[in-house]
Amino acid sequence: LAKKWKLAPPECAAKLARDISLPEQIDRFEIAGPYLNFFLNRGSEGAAIVSKILKEEFAFGTQSRVETIIVEYSSPNIAKPFHVGHLRTTLIGHALDRLYRHLGYNVISINHLGDWGTQFGFVYAGCELWGKPEQATIDDLVELYKRATGLRKAQDENTVSREDLDKPIVNAMARDYFIRLEANEADAVEFWQWCLDISLEYLKNMYTRLGIHFDYYTGESFYRDRLPATEAMLKASGILEESRGALGVELGEKLGFVRIFAEDGRSLYITRDIAAAEYRLKEFKPARILYVVGAPQTLHFKQLVCILEKMNHPAANRIQHIPYGHVPGISTRGGSANDETSLKALLEEAHNRALSAYQSQVSKRPLDVDEALVAESVGLGAIFYNYLCRSNIKDFHFSWDEALTFQGDTGPYVQYAIARLYSIERKALDAGMTYPEMLEGKALADPAAYEMITRIARFPALLEKAATENEPYHIALFTLDLAKVFSASYRSLRVVGEAETTVAATRLALFKAVRTVLEIGSRIIGVPTLEKM
Ligand code: ARG
Repeated sequence: LAKKWKLAPPECAAKLARDISLPEQIDRFEIAGPYLNFFLNRGSEGAAIVSKILKEEFAFGTQSRVETIIVEYSSPNIAKPFHVGHLRTTLIGHALDRLYRHLGYNVISINHLGDWGTQFGFVYAGCELWGKPEQATIDDLVELYKRATGLRKAQDENTVSREDLDKPIVNAMARDYFIRLEANEADAVEFWQWCLDISLEYLKNMYTRLGIHFDYYTGESFYRDRLPATEAMLKASGILEESRGALGVELGEKLGFVRIFAEDGRSLYITRDIAAAEYRLKEFKPARILYVVGAPQTLHFKQLVCILEKMNHPAANRIQHIPYGHVPGISTRGGSANDETSLKALLEEAHNRALSAYQSQVSKRPLDVDEALVAESVGLGAIFYNYLCRSNIKDFHFSWDEALTFQGDTGPYVQYAIARLYSIERKALDAGMTYPEMLEGKALADPAAYEMITRIARFPALLEKAATENEPYHIALFTLDLAKVFSASYRSLRVVGEAETTVAATRLALFKAVRTVLEIGSRIIGVPTLEKM
């Protein structure tokens, strides 16, 4: 303006100030040298955001969009133990799944099970050597897998114990089995299906307990029938080269030569990923495909994208790998910290610890709560929150003491704030109050109330940021911060017992808005919410 008006900046400010008429949302303004500073009317700003949230409720922050986003996560390997090593992808992936759904995208969640490969051969060898159990459970399969791979190791290292000296070579048994499986031999397929059914039943129980649902369980085996088409596509693209009997693609110095078909023609992990990318693009027409997979597979996904680029495949620029850092195993009472801790043992442990934390740390427990339900929710809340309160890529150690307390930076702290908000609402409604038609500006402009207003107003933008970065921790930290601000101030913002009825009703509305936002945030990251605890 200075240039246009040929005036010094402070004079421009003064000139503008002369003609300004303020809308209702702006209280006043001041000239400060070359600037004009505007002061929002906190009351009307607060009223606008609170009434918007009360109207939209759990849809607050949602928009209508048309893009499809595929979120692939969890993807454990069948027939190997489903241990805590797969917990982080499960929790991050689930949070992104919920986040994108909340933002209005059409989300498709896929579990790309590792259900094809030589690992089944080891379970098979185990059954041959030590007998196939009747009514087998996942633990039996894992036991057989461990026993067989243990013997294989001993055979490789020449440390076989006396009684096992006559045993056949496990590695050969496993390989032969897998060759027969790939050749679709009926008994081999039947055995594989038997392992898969047992594993899937266990897995689905675990996911249900975690509150997680997948749209598709299309694991690696799903692409078996599609491999010939993938092979034809690769051959037609002219990028396949032969190297020491294997077929692959040369990707240069950094990414190296990537084998796509092994010497004996077998497909490999990456082959099935190429087939999956092709299938997903055709079937779902996604704008993006997110792969929540640990950082050690970064090279694999770079190679995958590069191969698809070389094929001129349109999936190439839609793939996004979301890597995450390592969490060394979690200790449970039954054993020491290791990556093999089974998820089931972990969840049992969480439940038991949560029950004792609840009973020892929360003194005023309502008489009519189901303590088992509280323990389950708090245990899960502790795990989900602790896993999601830092950047994906950071390595960290999980500690029960840190995750499971009602006083610290934890899921249970947020859960407790939500339950307290519910209790404020219940007491007010029981006392005959109703949610107001009109909000009282001055009750919202009060500094303690306004602290909450500034935060809930920021929530939609915060969700967008979490999505842009694919970082659920923004949401976790937000819920904690809002819960803290609420806990620090609610005593000074009486509802029942406030003499001015419009002020009391406005506070009731504010608390409902805060509770709604806290619940949306918690649900996105998977922290269960309770009305009473
Ligand atoms: N099953 C694999 C593992 O546990 C993860 C699969 C990742 N997804 C993929 N499309 N490659 O390491």
